[in-house]
Amino acid sequence: MFSKRIISSFSTLTSQSILKQTVTRSYFKSNTFLKSDQLSRHVETEENNDHTPFDFTADNMIKVKKILSKYPPKYKQSALIPLLDLAQRQNGGWITVRAMDKVAQICGIAPMTAYEVASFYTMFNRNKVGQHLVQVCTTTPCMIRGSTAIVDACRKHLGIGVGESTKDGKFTLMEVECQGACVNAPMMCVNDDFYEDLTPESTVKLLEQLANNQKTKIGPQTSRKAAEGPNGKTSLFEPPTPPPFRADF
Ligand code: FES
Repeated sequence: MFSKRIISSFSTLTSQSILKQTVTRSYFKSNTFLKSDQLSRHVETEENNDHTPFDFTADNMIKVKKILSKYPPKYKQSALIPLLDLAQRQNGGWITVRAMDKVAQICGIAPMTAYEVASFYTMFNRNKVGQHLVQVCTTTPCMIRGSTAIVDACRKHLGIGVGESTKDGKFTLMEVECQGACVNAPMMCVNDDFYEDLTPESTVKLLEQLANNQKTKIGPQTSRKAAEGPNGKTSLFEPPTPPPFRADF
């Protein structure tokens, strides 16, 4: 978007008078480039190109068949997202072109459809990520509760910027939008686990534990239980009514 900005400045033209000068400038304005966006775009590398082999392992082929069995045979493309997720997990947290091709082949759809879905949903990483994918939420509730300090603590401790991975391949750092845990803000997600009610100190402690393959405390990093308020539980004392049916993945 083109816009105009009026820049006013004062300059002394003589020793007695000051003349106000007005300069009009046009400039091109665009959204900030997010380095985390690069995880959803294809970058041709030695590990991710048309010739990189991919096939599901024998164990995962059993899971593939189980997932497919949930859908009528003529609607097996409905298994696209769970199969992409399975392929990504087998591949160490990211998905290659050939893995998407394999899933497309199983679902009986055009490869481009699999590429589109994997590029649209941020749960799929189109480029290699570290063993621990650290996703810090920086949406408004988390930002108000201090997520900027959490990102800074991660950056400083890991020695990398947002969208980058550590040299040892252990960590990738990303900023993400709301993860649905706002009540326990600020929070970060590492692989499948949420860590909530973070402080810079508890964040660094978690990163150290993850680096040393130690057990971490998942959920709130304070004494808070789940998402209870400061007065403890005030509602929902009875067990919830179970759903009429549930998916068994
Ligand atoms: S704003 Fe961070 S989890 Fe919702």
